[in-house]
Amino acid sequence: MGQHSAFSLLPIAAHHLDTVASTMDAAKEILKQPPPAGLVYVTARVQTAGRGTQGRVWQSPPGNLYMTCVVSLEALSEARLPTLPLEAGLVLHRLIVSRLPFEARPALWLKWPNDLLLQTGPVATKVAGMLIEVHRGHVLVGLGVNLAEGPEIDDGGRPAAGLAELSDALHPEKRLDIAEAFASGLAETLSPSWSTEKRRETIKAWSRITRWNEPVKLRGRSPGIPQADATVMPLQLTEQGHLEVRHADGRHETLVAEYLW
Ligand code: BTN
Repeated sequence: MGQHSAFSLLPIAAHHLDTVASTMDAAKEILKQPPPAGLVYVTARVQTAGRGTQGRVWQSPPGNLYMTCVVSLEALSEARLPTLPLEAGLVLHRLIVSRLPFEARPALWLKWPNDLLLQTGPVATKVAGMLIEVHRGHVLVGLGVNLAEGPEIDDGGRPAAGLAELSDALHPEKRLDIAEAFASGLAETLSPSWSTEKRRETIKAWSRITRWNEPVKLRGRSPGIPQADATVMPLQLTEQGHLEVRHADGRHETLVAEYLW
């Protein structure tokens, strides 16, 4: 366990583990005791039951980064929850961009609510994903970054890729540096109190980094919902950070990230 708080108001504590089922569960174990104030994060070398959004499996071999950050909702304010994935996505994007060679930087973008994609060919590959959960008055931000390799994901056939081949700064040996930088960036972003102004800035910054001409596949929604598996076009973020999309028949729908359901 280490302490790093140099540039952030929220103090940070780290737990580095070897093999866990999921860092989400390891973080929940920590929450059985009153956790220290600030941001606590857990990393693991390997996960045996890593999970992604919508109950998907997140394969977790050694060499990639697996971590979960825990922050108290009291420190955050509940009003911030809907835009939290956007804030966390911006931190992640900034961090990975800074470690990529200059020419690869424009290829990195965020897909709502919190996938990090790299567009080096006609099809964008997934290089990182986030899973956000709320548990015992805390928000858990789980992050998986493909460094050594991009394990297959059940995501409509979207390919995944590892980032290490693009830059030494994204080598698996840098895994814990990257984890620390993400935790520090998140703590720094989340430390100032929430305001309408900050919400607008977040939405604007995020909107510049996504690709509005890339269709979004809706998958795995309850069968009762019309067009549960439709492909839709993203239109804009709402004031709350939800995604407004257009269906093929012209109908608009607002998508809400699953941890807010
Ligand atoms: C997704 O894109 O589906 C989200 C993937 C989130 C994976 C990370 S790895 C660390 C943390 N522990 C988990 O079991 N999942 C998240």
